[in-house]
Amino acid sequence: MNGLLGKSVFDLDSPQLIIDLDILDKNLETIRNGLNGKKLRVHFKSLKCAGLVKYLMSKGQDSFLCAKVNEAEVLVDAGVRDILIANQIIGDIKLARVHSLMAKANIRVCIDCEEHLKALSDFAQKSNTSFDVLAEVDIGMNRCGTFPGEPTLALVKKIAQTKNIRFVGLQGYDGHLQLMLDRTEKSNKAFEGLKALVDTKKMIQKIGIDVPLVTTAGTGTWEYAVQMEGVDEIQPGSFLLMDCIYHEARPEFKPSLTVLATVISRRPGLYVLDAGSKAISKDFGLPIVKDRPEEKIFKLAEEHTRVECNIPLPEIGDKREVITAHCCATMNLHRSVVASRMGKVVHFWPIEASGRYD
Ligand SMILES: Cc1ncc(COP(=O)(O)O)c(C=O)c1O
Repeated sequence: MNGLLGKSVFDLDSPQLIIDLDILDKNLETIRNGLNGKKLRVHFKSLKCAGLVKYLMSKGQDSFLCAKVNEAEVLVDAGVRDILIANQIIGDIKLARVHSLMAKANIRVCIDCEEHLKALSDFAQKSNTSFDVLAEVDIGMNRCGTFPGEPTLALVKKIAQTKNIRFVGLQGYDGHLQLMLDRTEKSNKAFEGLKALVDTKKMIQKIGIDVPLVTTAGTGTWEYAVQMEGVDEIQPGSFLLMDCIYHEARPEFKPSLTVLATVISRRPGLYVLDAGSKAISKDFGLPIVKDRPEEKIFKLAEEHTRVECNIPLPEIGDKREVITAHCCATMNLHRSVVASRMGKVVHFWPIEASGRYD
């Protein structure tokens, strides 16, 4: 492991997941420069790696969100004390895990119905504790959440009356807009959703219930959320690692995540790399070869990637960096990652939450 430190990334064995920290730092700086007074909460479902979280903490990033309890456990182990689990946590087994994390960190969870509320309250009373909850609002994604306005207000009123439960805010994520390329349509739809979220906040405040936090948006919609009065924080994740699909929608962030692969076969017009869909996620589309637009990936098999190449072919053993089409899913495929600076390995990090869904 330590033998890797200082090596050129192109001298590593492959397939090898790499994070270029010079690029990642720029992505962080770009978003920080545009926050317009809002707070940044970073989504850990993209990162999954405690080493990377500690790196971000050393740069002053102390609040994170995640989708799953196992991710919250990794965050707490990494020393994070401000965590939002942006999801519904069902069943006493998971609630017990959340409860044990609450001894070490400020943990909040989301709910969107009375069944969640009752289950949390029953567990909290039994365990002599209390849960901090956000009401999740569906601002157009059609996933979880109550609809804005009256339905959310009704749930929040119930939350406010429920024993051992504290209402701490609203969460609305506009996932349906993240990868939309048409800027005008995206902006109109994003502001429509944000307005519905903030109007709901105002309705709640009007009946005397405090709304300490309104959290929203992702990498694809961050620029709208930071302009919206009434929003407190944004919650993107992919902007740090990025991928070729997100980069098209959000060119201000550059891909820092690549998979190093080796040319293992070639014939006229085509070469083959030693990393396939088990190392490079293809759920959002095809990856690309970094800095080589004339070499086009057209097919991923489990352990092979085929690349069309109508210029002089690379040699057998040559290396290529592949930019994935989905950074979060690619992090989930690997057990470790190297971090590089100026092309040299500076860290080797396990990816503790990869391959886990609990
Ligand atoms: C609740 C929530 N917030 C924010 C995000 C934003 O993530 P990203 O910036 O990777 O699009 C996601 C992505 O799935 C999410 O589920």
